[in-house]
Amino acid sequence: MNAPVLTLDGPSGAGKGTVSRTVASLLGWHYLDSGSIYRALAIAVLQAGVALDDVAAVTDVAHGMSLAFDCDSELSVWLNGVDITLQLGTETTGKAASIVAAYPDVRAVLLQKQKKFRQQPGLVADGRDMGSVVFPDAQYKVYLTANAETRALRRYKQLIEKGIDANLLQITQEVEERDRRDRERATAPLTVPDGAIYIDSSNMTIQDVIDRVTALVR
Ligand code: DC
Repeated sequence: MNAPVLTLDGPSGAGKGTVSRTVASLLGWHYLDSGSIYRALAIAVLQAGVALDDVAAVTDVAHGMSLAFDCDSELSVWLNGVDITLQLGTETTGKAASIVAAYPDVRAVLLQKQKKFRQQPGLVADGRDMGSVVFPDAQYKVYLTANAETRALRRYKQLIEKGIDANLLQITQEVEERDRRDRERATAPLTVPDGAIYIDSSNMTIQDVIDRVTALVR
């Protein structure tokens, strides 16, 4: 029997990462941060000196890259044997990830890599198209969002906490631009999947969201 899946989709900065990781750990399930796969591809493309708009070359890089993940309390990622965890979270990586993620051929290559994460006793999958495309038969689906100002402010605080210099106005613009690209692309756009529970976390604490999502499965 297929392992159960809980999908969490939504725009950047909605809190999906923290909620998914915590819920996966509470349930003792595996965790897929699909955004980190697109981010790793973006890093591989930039490292290879390939132009982001060269679809064929970007697709070749997606075919050739080897990824390894370790999710303890935080996620660590290795690209072709090199630890890229620190580069994963930057805005440059996020923007480039959103650009390469719009290419249908790239998504087709990465689809299989994502499906392999579905293993017993279960999977929590975080992304944009988890409930709509990658695991449409998931037993539990959540769409987690928050208004753009709240998401930009959370992102800003995260970067400052990590000691990364950040500008709130610039982040707000970047968040809005990335949302627009992820929503408006033709293939697997960000959308509320059929059957998903819609949670707006603008006025909720992260613990409230974790409790609500965990209760769905339990
Ligand atoms: O969730 P994130 O910020 O790490 O994702 C980075 C980019 O990757 C996001 O802007 C769009 C893309 N992405 C995607 O297209 N599909 C997914 N399932 C996850 C991420």
